[in-house]
Amino acid sequence: MGLWGLLAAFFAGQTGVTFSHDVAPILYSQCVVCHRPGGVAPFSLTTYQDAAKRAALLATVTTKRYMPPWLPSEPEFAHARRLTAAQISTLARWAASGAAEGNPAETPAPPVFRDGWQLGKPDLIARMRTAFAVPAEGPDLYQCFPLPSPAGPNRWVRALDIRPGNPKVVHHALLFQDITGTAWKRNNGAGYPCFGTPGFLPARGLGGWTPGAIPFQTPADAPELLHGNATLVLQVHYHPIGRAETDLTSVALYFTDQKPRRTIMDVPLGSNRIDIPAGARDYKVTDHFTLPVTVDVIAINPHAHYICREMYGYAVLPDGSRRILIHIPHWDFDWQQQYTYATPVRLPEGTRLEMEFTYDNSAANLRNPNHPPRRVVWGPASTDEMAGLHVEVTPVDPDDADELDQSLWGKMMRGLGGAVYRGGR
Ligand code: HEC
Repeated sequence: MGLWGLLAAFFAGQTGVTFSHDVAPILYSQCVVCHRPGGVAPFSLTTYQDAAKRAALLATVTTKRYMPPWLPSEPEFAHARRLTAAQISTLARWAASGAAEGNPAETPAPPVFRDGWQLGKPDLIARMRTAFAVPAEGPDLYQCFPLPSPAGPNRWVRALDIRPGNPKVVHHALLFQDITGTAWKRNNGAGYPCFGTPGFLPARGLGGWTPGAIPFQTPADAPELLHGNATLVLQVHYHPIGRAETDLTSVALYFTDQKPRRTIMDVPLGSNRIDIPAGARDYKVTDHFTLPVTVDVIAINPHAHYICREMYGYAVLPDGSRRILIHIPHWDFDWQQQYTYATPVRLPEGTRLEMEFTYDNSAANLRNPNHPPRRVVWGPASTDEMAGLHVEVTPVDPDDADELDQSLWGKMMRGLGGAVYRGGR
């Protein structure tokens, strides 16, 4: 044992933090879902050696909350990927004390990941018709693929799983249904490019896949309608890794005979009047909607592109109190997803839903795709911007669905919310 080894052993003795006893349980519950052989992350963290040689880096990325990737700072969501302060401190003390192994016999067994569909035998499997070639180099690609699948009656979807053919290059994937026939028309044999939206309306998402996520499931009494004559359209975000790769992703759907007992409705907050001057650091986009009926908020889905920095969604209740529906202090387009509340949020009639997104179009924003910064307007390309906060609600009294629908229609007719530039160059 060299001097560092002796020092390490000494410090481990002082702090008592070891891989076997303290670190492995954290990595196995929070990291190896992605950091494992064949996983989406660039290296594995399943063995002592894997972790020990990166101990300092593990401490840094967890202290900065860069890993595990999880954007909202509040509120509580189901399936949150967040370390506790105690876990972060354990990783930091382990690195500082020389990353001792401890007693290998004490190391828990790493979790086993099933290769099959996680929810059992699917009712329908659809896959891309031909493998997509992902080049070695170049920008990220967003490609839409209509998936061949037999027409059928209208069906109710209770769950959805997506299996990336090549997890090294598939960053995330979303499934839509197209009832307009557009996707097949735009298909050039290998899908068609689609950065922001899949290019047809309505583009109702059925669910998605992000690395490490559990399969998407609807609330038991509110399955999603899949139109009998709809085409399933898969939007895949590819990330080149320095080597040419191919991908053939498949999706699995699970149906139910249970008709919905309540409807989940999308309250879209946002704006398409976005015009951000080059260099503006604090450009705000706001919108609001007053709920005409009492609802439970089930999930929330924020969307913007690269120069959005911070996202706020909140509710102002009739008594004037405020509830944060989502706060993302550092937006990262690469890790977008839908968030489901740990418990549905009840909001009484008369509650005002508010959104405020802040954009940084300065050169100081490392994610700015334009160097030097250029004026950025609303649009679907990666160099354009968008602002959308989709609040998924269900009326507490099912008879209220029509009233909410009318009111949402009214909002749409009045046009989307305003974008206000409040200086800050
Ligand atoms: C949802 C998947 C996922 C989870 C969970 C996850 N990671 Fe990662 N991690 C990635 C991906 C993908 C990358 C490479 C791309 C990037 O850096 O964003 C990465 C990169 C890293 C890096 C390299 C960062 C750098 O700057 O080079 C470290 C260190 C790391 N992860 C540690 C962890 C630790 C520790 C945990 C658990 C506490 C964890 N990760 C959980 C997906 C994940």
